[in-house]
Amino acid sequence: METIKEFLEARDREGLLRKLKPASSRKAGIIRFGAKEYIDLSSNDYLGLSGHPKSIKAAKEAAEIYGVGASASRLLSGDLEIYHRLEEKTAEFKGKEKALIFNSGYQANVGILSALYGEGDVIFSDKLNHASIVDGLMLSGVKFFRFKHNDTEHLNSLLKKERAKFKKALIITETIFSMDGDRPDLKELVALKEKFDCAIMVDEAHATGIFGKNGSGVVEEEGLTDKIDFIMGTFGKALGSFGAYLAASSDVIDYMVNKCRSFIYSTALPPVTIACNLAAIDLIKEEPYRRRELLEASDHFRNALKEKGFDVKGSSQIVPVIVGDNHAALKMAEALQARGYWVLPIRPPTVPKGEARLRFSLSFDHKAHFLERLVDDISKIKI
Ligand SMILES: Cc1ncc(COP(=O)(O)O)c(C=O)c1O
Repeated sequence: METIKEFLEARDREGLLRKLKPASSRKAGIIRFGAKEYIDLSSNDYLGLSGHPKSIKAAKEAAEIYGVGASASRLLSGDLEIYHRLEEKTAEFKGKEKALIFNSGYQANVGILSALYGEGDVIFSDKLNHASIVDGLMLSGVKFFRFKHNDTEHLNSLLKKERAKFKKALIITETIFSMDGDRPDLKELVALKEKFDCAIMVDEAHATGIFGKNGSGVVEEEGLTDKIDFIMGTFGKALGSFGAYLAASSDVIDYMVNKCRSFIYSTALPPVTIACNLAAIDLIKEEPYRRRELLEASDHFRNALKEKGFDVKGSSQIVPVIVGDNHAALKMAEALQARGYWVLPIRPPTVPKGEARLRFSLSFDHKAHFLERLVDDISKIKI
């Protein structure tokens, strides 16, 4: 087995070594490192809500009322009524009977999957599903199959061959993929779930707040709320705060409270964060122009890059430009950083080998004239 030093040296040689870089501030689409200022194209604060005056006011008021920490797990003395208010609001927002708040999306996925499924069961998971889903599969001890990305024919053939050998079965997908910005054929996935007697779970981390008439997500937009058994999502991206939720039937939520280890054995989120999440759901309803303008700008940006000949994926506020080689992606990112854009290269294992990319994560704060200048600057880079 390689030593720690050998591991680090190998990562460096392959252009895969990651380093932390502390920012001095990040607000309203601008990130600063000491005196240097960049336009932030790497955050998931898609609607610019993390610095919204209403969120900040809610945080201050909650700190006055509850203090800054929950001080215990919900099943001990950490169960403040504000969590229940957020759970009711989330359930209504997502159109489900009940909701449960989790401390992060990672903890939600790992905890939900391992609570619901185990030996003798099977899970069919999109190949590009987030690492927290993959870790949940491994922790649960189920047999799992990863179907080709967004390929319902491949899923169909796996289901035909494997489904009958197992007890419970689940199909799981993201509704907007975090690194590709694209979406699955959710109606077809629901049809397959029904045909093969499975349940279906979706991760709406990157869709919540952006898609659907009420901003609830892709499930709402496609009118599939009643057909999806488990709707998971996060508060840390478009909602500008932190934490995650599961929206499902009343029985499933009650089961989680008794069975889900990442929920039971962890101090509850700070009430300040819960207050920000409550404010964020209100803001999604009150300020729909944020998501409308964001999606319009994203379409223009994506089309402009395609016209310039770039290999661009997706159909959302996440706009990945595929570069391929790890070192080339690093160099392109550095060249853009030198021009004042905080863009990061995304490399394996986060994305498949040979598909290193620049991931432009757009926000309401990025206006059309700025995006036009960015397209020009990207086209000028020679690697
Ligand atoms: C699709 C998806 N699910 C889950 C997570 C984890 O959420 P959190 O950052 O709240 O842990 C992320 C991102 O981090 C994600 O992109």
